Amino acid sequence: RALRDPHRPRFHFTSPGGWLNDPNGLSHWNGVYHLFYQYNPLAAAHHRIHWGHATSTDLVHWADEPVALVPGSDGPDRDGCWSGVLVDDGGVPTLVYSGRHGDHELPCVATGSTDLRYWTKDQANPVITAPPEGVDITAFRDHCVWREGQVWRQLVGSGIRGVGGTAFLYESDDLRSWRYVGPLLTGDASQNQGELDWTGTMWECVDLFRLGEDEEAGSTDVLVFSAWDEGTTHHPLYWTGRYQGDTFNPTALHRLDYGGRYFYAPQSTRDEHGRRIMFGWLQEGRTDEANAQAGWCGVMSLPRLVTLATDGGLHQAPAPELTELRRERVEVAPGRQADRYTRLPAVRGDQLDIETTLHLAPGATAWLVVRETPDGAERTVVEVSRAQDGTGGTLRLRRETSSLDPTVDTEPRYGELPLGTNGRVDLRVLVDHSALEVFANGRALTARIYPTRANEAVGVGIGADGDVALERFDAWQMASAFTDGPRPLWP
Ligand code: FRU
Repeated sequence: RALRDPHRPRFHFTSPGGWLNDPNGLSHWNGVYHLFYQYNPLAAAHHRIHWGHATSTDLVHWADEPVALVPGSDGPDRDGCWSGVLVDDGGVPTLVYSGRHGDHELPCVATGSTDLRYWTKDQANPVITAPPEGVDITAFRDHCVWREGQVWRQLVGSGIRGVGGTAFLYESDDLRSWRYVGPLLTGDASQNQGELDWTGTMWECVDLFRLGEDEEAGSTDVLVFSAWDEGTTHHPLYWTGRYQGDTFNPTALHRLDYGGRYFYAPQSTRDEHGRRIMFGWLQEGRTDEANAQAGWCGVMSLPRLVTLATDGGLHQAPAPELTELRRERVEVAPGRQADRYTRLPAVRGDQLDIETTLHLAPGATAWLVVRETPDGAERTVVEVSRAQDGTGGTLRLRRETSSLDPTVDTEPRYGELPLGTNGRVDLRVLVDHSALEVFANGRALTARIYPTRANEAVGVGIGADGDVALERFDAWQMASAFTDGPRPLWP
């Protein structure tokens, strides 16, 4: 048994031990950020899910709080307290979550102490006793709840069999008694089946929000969901469009993160500064046995600032607060990237924040190599390329050689990279042991990597094929984020 787990991130949030999945109940409450999460404290496996809880005043350093929700010994959540949200009910912190009982999941409510530490489940649970009548559904769980005028509105994630994923809309005066309104929007599961933007047979973790509330500049409504099916489909998508009355009129469907299941079940909140902050769950890419042996699994993404991009999609970036963790800096002088590959021996390690700006000529490709062993046996490649005709580009993550361990997932990932006429790419790469988050011109690609030779010096290098100009390159070592000392590295 490995004494230390070199894959445990240090500036991403992980649970103290056991299993972590979705972010829940995200909120900024009286100056404190609250991050709840799907949690099994007893084992690194998805079973009898609790709600874990952590707090932060700066989105950077996290402190563990007592477990917020524990499945009941009987009752509607005896088999788990699944995903949900936190709302402010006239000053009373209130959770709306999915109580699991056998194969059924139904909405439940709990109210909290003023510090959000201790929670009391409502006697009336479940507050919706059955899914909508007369609809053949694939599932019914996860919640998005907001105040609209004098009423509460709620979305519950679902799917209509033979049709597609959907979000059911409900309305209530008191969060306890709900009227069914109808489906807000329904996907078409017959389209693009198996493709990277397939909307699946069920929508998990629906999240509806408006960006740009400014009258003049206009606004866009965004409906985020995690497309799911009984097979292997797990990826986060979003519709942009207009939420009006009881419907959502979509303009376009987008991929939220090119890592697919590695940035799953995201949830967002509007913080007290008016910013849209999003977290997602970075699933593991190693075996269940490896998770069990590690004693912990599941990583929370870095907090993301989400804004409207000029092309009508979302622009994603790590919250600016994270730069607080930057330590020693290494800079590379600007210039043309003529060599095919240059090692940067001064930039090495498992905790890095790299920021670079590149200009790609039509047909050019540039790559950034991280977690590279001196002999090159293990290396992970982030690649950006520009189409020959100059228009679009591609962001790619090559993980095929990221690990010599044949049991870990090393499938590559890719997606569309928006490029202006000057071919400029603003690239940010955050490496935190097994967690890797890439942002290129506001598009995100998240994944996990499991290099085996972590104790050797690992470097970063830059390379190019075609005409690539390096405008800037800075890299920083990153500090750990935990206020209570380092996370335990062994169970
Ligand atoms: C998404 C999800 C949710 C569910 C929770 C269970 O990852 O499957 O649909 O509420 O996780 O832990």
